[in-house]
Amino acid sequence: MFTWGVSTSSYQIEGAAREGGRRDSIWDTFSRIPGAVANGDNGDIACDHYHRYEQDLDLIKWLGVDAYHFSIAWSRVIPTGTGAINKTGIDFYNRLIDGALERGITPWPTLYHWDLPQDLQDRGGWNNRDCTKWFAEYAYQMAEHFSDRVKNWVTINEPFCSAWLGHLYGVMAPGIKDLQIAINASHHLLLGHGLAVKALREVSQESNIGITLNFTPAITLGSSDEDQLAVKLADGFDNRWFGDPVFKASYPKDIVEAFNKEIPIQSGDMEIISTPVDFLGLNYYFRQTVAYDANSKPLSYKQVTAPNVERTGMGWEVHAETFTDLLIRINSDYSPKEIFITENGSAWDDEVVDGEILDTKRVSYLERHLDAMFAAKSKGVPIKGYFAWSLIDNFEWAYGYAKRFGLIYVDYKTQKRIPKSSAYYYKDRIQKS
Ligand code: FCB
Repeated sequence: MFTWGVSTSSYQIEGAAREGGRRDSIWDTFSRIPGAVANGDNGDIACDHYHRYEQDLDLIKWLGVDAYHFSIAWSRVIPTGTGAINKTGIDFYNRLIDGALERGITPWPTLYHWDLPQDLQDRGGWNNRDCTKWFAEYAYQMAEHFSDRVKNWVTINEPFCSAWLGHLYGVMAPGIKDLQIAINASHHLLLGHGLAVKALREVSQESNIGITLNFTPAITLGSSDEDQLAVKLADGFDNRWFGDPVFKASYPKDIVEAFNKEIPIQSGDMEIISTPVDFLGLNYYFRQTVAYDANSKPLSYKQVTAPNVERTGMGWEVHAETFTDLLIRINSDYSPKEIFITENGSAWDDEVVDGEILDTKRVSYLERHLDAMFAAKSKGVPIKGYFAWSLIDNFEWAYGYAKRFGLIYVDYKTQKRIPKSSAYYYKDRIQKS
């Protein structure tokens, strides 16, 4: 059976930031830094999903999907990150999970979608090796509470973003700009993943467990050997740095050499990181164009703007064929048992006209990417499911509410949800499949 689904994440939709015993996550703190998030937006209210989850579950059911991929806010269930469980937080996810199951929807939680409890950041966060243990303990607790009903788990979403965007470029929480700290964080995120796989399996042997990695293939417009090297470096930094440890138990040599920094690997780490997973969660949005640049740090390449290409509201190039090629390549490089597309989607400047949102560009993006995915599937890539990003418009991190990725429109003033044309398209395509 092919699984159709929709994805969201806790900080982006839940709101109720100071309710029910929840404490701050690093995204609450980051959002308070002047200039960190567009328009000074934050996740205090977001889509108010914490209170409106029943309505959102009804919409998910209406879409006709099989599964709902959401994330658990660590600081809602263990407010200080370690120690005491917050029953009110657990109850919220119990209601969400039960509500999904009652509607015939399979719950697919991610344990970590970037909202580290601030109390743990104050103890060093992912730069501190202990964070791997805190995460594994949290994973264990979640399995204890939910694995009677939850059978599919994603440990960590896009460690690329947490590590590089959060600790090297500082454009996401916790807003650090330090290569050594970013490298430490990347290793600890991956190690935390491996330990969490073990913890989840310890509680629930029948669990289906994976990690979600985002892959951004690179091309160059240049023809020099240096530009080819730029492509290889970009691929190493974005893709192989996270895929190789999980599937090959090693970091890519070329990038290790180019970084010329210490990687805090201790004996046994790579075995833990490469603990076999049941599936790879793969996120794909766009391809990047790069050129060699000896002055760029930490690696000798820079992003360039390819002319005359189609771009989304994020400025991301739309290139569906890349999705097919990527899936074939990941299958041949890593041979994951199964692949689930855990996110794919696009942002556009949606407009409500006479109560309708005719988002033809999103429909076209969705259609082309679904076709591209099925093209790879027909070539033997073991793709078992597709989750559209996103169910509803939501807090798009440093872009705030300015970027809309939803199949369903959210009027943030009234919290009214309106299905866009893309929601009807998706519903129809699932029905016909
Ligand atoms: C991914 C994130 C998700 C969302 C989309 C647009 O990188 O996992 O939360 O922001 O991009």
